[in-house]
Amino acid sequence: MARLIPREFIDELMQRTDIVDVIDSMVPLQKKGREYMACCPFHDEKTPSFTVSPQKQFFYCFGCGESGSAIDFVMKYQNLGFIEAIEDLASRAGLEIPHSITTSEFTTSHDHANRLLEIVNKASLWFQEQLRVNPDRKTATGYLGSRGLTVKIISEFGIGYAPDSWNGLCNELGTTPSNLASLVTAGLINHKQDGKGPGRHYDRFRGRIMFPIEDSRGRIVGFGARDLTDKGPKYLNSPETPLFHKGRELYGLHRARRAIGKQNRSIVVEGYMDVVSLVQFGIENVVAALGTATTPYHVQRLFRLAPDIVFCFDGDQAGRNAAWKALMTTLPELRDGRQASFLFLDEGEDPDTTVRSVGAEDFLKKIDSALPLTDLLFENLMANVDLQRMDGRAKLASMVKPLLMNIPGTTLRSIMFDRLSTYCGITVKPDETDQSSTSQNPTTDTKQRLERNLGGQLPLVAQAISLLLQSPKLASQVSNFSALDELLVNGLDVFVDLLYTCRENPNMTTARLLEGFRDRPYHSRLEYLASRDHHVQDDVLIEHFGEIIQKLLAQLRKQRHDQLIEKSCQRTLEQHEKEELLSLQKERVRQ
Ligand code: UTP
Ligand code: MN
Repeated sequence: MARLIPREFIDELMQRTDIVDVIDSMVPLQKKGREYMACCPFHDEKTPSFTVSPQKQFFYCFGCGESGSAIDFVMKYQNLGFIEAIEDLASRAGLEIPHSITTSEFTTSHDHANRLLEIVNKASLWFQEQLRVNPDRKTATGYLGSRGLTVKIISEFGIGYAPDSWNGLCNELGTTPSNLASLVTAGLINHKQDGKGPGRHYDRFRGRIMFPIEDSRGRIVGFGARDLTDKGPKYLNSPETPLFHKGRELYGLHRARRAIGKQNRSIVVEGYMDVVSLVQFGIENVVAALGTATTPYHVQRLFRLAPDIVFCFDGDQAGRNAAWKALMTTLPELRDGRQASFLFLDEGEDPDTTVRSVGAEDFLKKIDSALPLTDLLFENLMANVDLQRMDGRAKLASMVKPLLMNIPGTTLRSIMFDRLSTYCGITVKPDETDQSSTSQNPTTDTKQRLERNLGGQLPLVAQAISLLLQSPKLASQVSNFSALDELLVNGLDVFVDLLYTCRENPNMTTARLLEGFRDRPYHSRLEYLASRDHHVQDDVLIEHFGEIIQKLLAQLRKQRHDQLIEKSCQRTLEQHEKEELLSLQKERVRQ
């Protein structure tokens, strides 16, 4: 597990760090009113939409939606992990990082996400141990040996073995009700409710090779598990859990980050085994999607590390289809300077078998000669038209044009239009009336798109959180916290948590506030809320916030009202309950 840095230190570091200095040393900033601006370092633009707020100690880009604290900036801009970014900022601030806290202190932390991370990590250690000590380990070690994996690579990837038993992990880690509950939440143990009793717990992964999956910060969040028994599906993955989101993670990303930066290229393969084999052969800049199609999230992540992605697929029809999907996902991310290409392997081969038969050098040659995305795009579409015929050329133009309009990089887009024109024998131009991609003002355009994507009007609690994150001083405007706490609405606990934190720390900034929530699964949602433009003028901010609180309190009263009505159907209400109900009803009539 990564070295742990005490939260107090991080908070102190944030108080001693000025985000404007930090960013200005890497991306020169210009003062504009209360804020500082520059062309965004995370996407391609000509007019600045990257904004740094000294008050909030927070940066955000209206163009691409990137946002965060000084720590996030250093992580993103320099491709560093969290700890490394802290080290970088600490040395700028002349602070010494104190000794890491011990594992036992970690255990006593009551943070839910930390508890899950810890149990998943323990499970991973246990799976690895089984590979060394379990009486049945020969099935597993024999299999790994037959796949040509070395002991070194097995240990580097933390590969383990889940014995073919219903209760190995249950007995090992599920020794207390709270551990058992964590194991269920983490998707490692299933709970079956049969009839009335307390139900039965059993191991989810049995008789499988376990591949731990790390998030981008190197923390184990789930597993991919290969069957050895021929009983179930070939691979079983962890289910969606608060820690693990299949469409977000990429297998091997954490360990590949440096190599990707160094090679300036990432290689995307399909399987766990493919990643492990390539790394064993010294090809380290490689990741795999977890049995899902490539998602925009994957592509964005990889492009942030390096401007060149090579996707490897099987040469068969399924591989071709998957490549086309990946192409479609990649198009909207193609800013100028970025490129993607596709390597189709011989039928029946995958990167694992290929590298083992041809060796690393030839494998890399194949990677170098992968088919550029543009070629694949025209190749596929031209297969469906007859370019000898006028209507065929017109059909090509009408198919390709909308696809090209998705490309944000203006240079790349016009090169592609030139190429389309050559094929069609006439000049095909971007559609000037198409506002969605050739808008005169890309900044507000993408911004609106971002807001639209995130669902227009926010729920009340999210509005409250958003305002509070941006103006922590608002916390002093709310008096009845504890009452609010009872409102059963998603996100309310987070809001109340934020209120407490702001109350305890009068000089809170947006960035410091967010930092305290970094390990929570909803951290990125908070980041979005912290940078969302709420269009509320400063002079009416307190009033507006007050109105939201009043609405929440009204919801609370309605909830209480409904609860009492429900109770009254089950039993006679106590006197004080009757009085409460009556006053709630009167109030409803008044409104
Ligand atoms: P492959 O079937 O290509 O497996 O699936 P592989 O990685 O080459 O495995 P080996 O070499 O037979 O051991 C590619 C990926 O698709 C997902 C897994 O992530 C796998 O690595 N997958 C596949 C599943 O999630 N479930 C399955 O049943 C099969
Ligand atoms: Mn394979």
